Amino acid sequence: MDKKSIATILIFAMTVSIAGCTLGRDDRGDLKESSDEVQVGIVLPTKDEPRWLQDEAAFTSILKDAGFTSEVLFSQGSSATELANVESLVEKNIDVLVICAQDAAAAGRAVEAAHEADVEVICYDRLITDTDAVDYYVTFNSYDVGVLQGQYLIDAYEGQTGVPLYLYCGATTDNNAYIFFTGAWSVLSSAIADGQFVLANCDAIAPYAGQDLDVNEDREILADVLGTITTNWDLNTAKSLASANLVTNAHTFKGDCAILAPNDGTARGIADAFSVDPDITSFVITGQDCETDSLGYICSGMQSMTVWKNTTELASMACDMVSDILSGREPSTTVTYDNGNLAVPANETAVTVITIDNISEPVDAGYVDPEDIEGYEEIAEDCHHNTTL
Ligand code: BGC
Repeated sequence: MDKKSIATILIFAMTVSIAGCTLGRDDRGDLKESSDEVQVGIVLPTKDEPRWLQDEAAFTSILKDAGFTSEVLFSQGSSATELANVESLVEKNIDVLVICAQDAAAAGRAVEAAHEADVEVICYDRLITDTDAVDYYVTFNSYDVGVLQGQYLIDAYEGQTGVPLYLYCGATTDNNAYIFFTGAWSVLSSAIADGQFVLANCDAIAPYAGQDLDVNEDREILADVLGTITTNWDLNTAKSLASANLVTNAHTFKGDCAILAPNDGTARGIADAFSVDPDITSFVITGQDCETDSLGYICSGMQSMTVWKNTTELASMACDMVSDILSGREPSTTVTYDNGNLAVPANETAVTVITIDNISEPVDAGYVDPEDIEGYEEIAEDCHHNTTL
């Protein structure tokens, strides 16, 4: 009898429902502890971005409340560390691996090693591509994130023409970077074709103005384009790239600018670069993740918006899947995502735009501590959507 059959029989012995997770049995954690095993292995990309620490905190608390034993490991930007992490969790006899890949394609090896050991694999937030060794995917609606970012820029410059548009994207090893970008492009593309925006730093995308790009079918085009505007999800890389773009554009594409920044860390880096250029009079810049530092930037007018992706909801959704799997049930899913090899059954959770107008929402929800947000106390009157320098 294999590990999962034994687990399934034991699980049916007891059923308990805690914190949104229906569990197979309440003493399962004790059993695992006594044999020094871990039921759920979680591998996250890096400790160096607040986003993933939020996920870690959510997982740790939800899984603990639910009575599961779990261990979280970080890959710290390295696919080799990611593989070693997965192997060490497999050795601890995990039943389910929840993994947010460092590199969508390279992570195939890690999840294949997990599958060989009869471990079920849930991709978390980032889809792992070009492998069959993926069972489920839980994600925010990343396409919507991009649409909301692009639409925010369009609305901010409604009725204007010739506004310089600076485009930046995430790491090209992350499938999400493509999804965010194609979402944004789905609305920005016609705004460029109509003359509202002019491309300021991304000639490679010019031939596709007025045309939708598909995340899978147009992958090669997208890889070429994104390669010219990638921040690698790194604040300093984003800042250097933006500074270089502004130097290249010494005599053009300045004044009031629109900036598609893929996430909060990169938005802060890019905003820092734009704010010191004397020829930039104002800018509207996007973000995502609802990081406290970026909420501070929103308070001071240095960042225009962020997209709040509630990591507690995502971790909870993953936990529900874990619970189903450990109980021998097939998790119910609502969509599929094409990973290049198969249609991965998935669940999505919604996202919310946060600006100065509704910045109290994540605070009131207890998602962020107002004391961590610089300038939150003083925001009442003089915060604006865009920065006037
Ligand atoms: C996540 C974003 C995050 C980015 C950088 C993406 O895959 O969806 O929330 O900001 O990675 O870590």
